Amino acid sequence: MSKIKVLFVCLGNICRSPLAEAAFRAAAQDAGLDVEVESAGTANYHVGERPDPRSIAEARKHDIDISGYRGRQLQAADFHEFDYILGMDASNMTNIAAVDPGDGKAHVAMLLDLVPGQQGREVADPWYGGPEGFTTTWNEVKAGADALVAVLINENN
Ligand code: 4NP
Repeated sequence: MSKIKVLFVCLGNICRSPLAEAAFRAAAQDAGLDVEVESAGTANYHVGERPDPRSIAEARKHDIDISGYRGRQLQAADFHEFDYILGMDASNMTNIAAVDPGDGKAHVAMLLDLVPGQQGREVADPWYGGPEGFTTTWNEVKAGADALVAVLINENN
């Protein structure tokens, strides 16, 4: 199987998409899939910054260290480089479409659209809430990550 490249996208690339990146990297590794995983924000507010401390703390609960991640902004070249570009909410999807050059190879979707029975559901932005919101985010992105693993295993069988 050739290496599959996956990019998770949110607004700031400091709360949701770093957790999605972490959850998917772990799930893919557990499944023995050869993947390359990154995350990005549609906004440039937090370029070069580490994830939100609440996301770092949530990942640590799952024995994953994301403190070395750094924010970066989605760019048109990503649509040529990645096989999957997965946004978190409807607003992300609008922003992703605005950067899409139209002739890339990436499959573009909202993450929870991959989860049976969760189509159309958003991974809500936890930025304005408390730490418990980040546990909800983890559970949502973990469901999406596991669903993507299942899709990739199916595709390659
Ligand atoms: P994220 O959350 O998109 O999940 O990383 C946010 C982070 C920062 C901001 C908004 C959402 N912000 O407005 O700076």
